[in-house]
Amino acid sequence: MTTLNVRVWRGNEDGQFASYQVPRSASQTVLDVVTYIQRHLEPDLGYRFACRVGMCGSCAMTVNGKARWSCRTHVAKVVQGDALEIAPLSNLPVIKDLATDMTAFFDKWAAAKGQFKGAATRHDAFASVEPASPARKAADAGIECIGCGVCYASCDVVGWRPDYLGPAAMNRAWTLVNDVRDVVGTERLRAVAGDAGCHSCHTQGSCTERCPKQLAPTAGIAGLKRIVAKAAIKGEL
Ligand code: SF4
Ligand code: SF4
Ligand code: FES
Repeated sequence: MTTLNVRVWRGNEDGQFASYQVPRSASQTVLDVVTYIQRHLEPDLGYRFACRVGMCGSCAMTVNGKARWSCRTHVAKVVQGDALEIAPLSNLPVIKDLATDMTAFFDKWAAAKGQFKGAATRHDAFASVEPASPARKAADAGIECIGCGVCYASCDVVGWRPDYLGPAAMNRAWTLVNDVRDVVGTERLRAVAGDAGCHSCHTQGSCTERCPKQLAPTAGIAGLKRIVAKAAIKGEL
């Protein structure tokens, strides 16, 4: 049986890597490797996961230098020789080992007005939104975000300026801007128009390149830039 040489981050921001030998197995995922270490070698290893099938967004880690969802990342795809290096996500405080504090990430969703607000009541008919309409297509394009933080951890601008709302929050804002049932309107545009909002994006696209759901936050942010500019010209902001 072959083995993997796995370096895993231990401790908080001031921690260090520790090395473990993990047996290789067929169809092994990075989450399987971490779980093996926790169950057989290091019972107090801190990490986070829930669904194991790419739905909950809780298992993201830095694997050989890149942010990834660990439950859907096969070792065979990312291993370098027999080496794996597994660290917590960048751009977020480390709680312990591989677990990061996602508070700032989700606070920014709220700051970007990422909550749906409708005007319909239970007495109204179901909203009918034409699937082929441009707004519906734009909203559908970003709706599958699982909040994993991979894009946020991959964004250089988040690293440079911690108040930047980041790709996930703005992908969510763009989704709701295009949701014809939502009534937040100009208030949301104001929320994403400031210095920490869409205009700080450098459009280099690391978020879009790395998103495990193949979403394109860069395109959504470009859409926000356009619509914010139009609203500013009309004096609406
Ligand atoms: S395109 Fe914008 S949001 Fe995406 S990683 Fe680059 S700077 Fe960040
Ligand atoms: S946009 Fe993609 S990478 Fe970013 S949080 Fe959502 S699913 Fe994860
Ligand atoms: S454990 Fe839920 S997305 Fe990986």
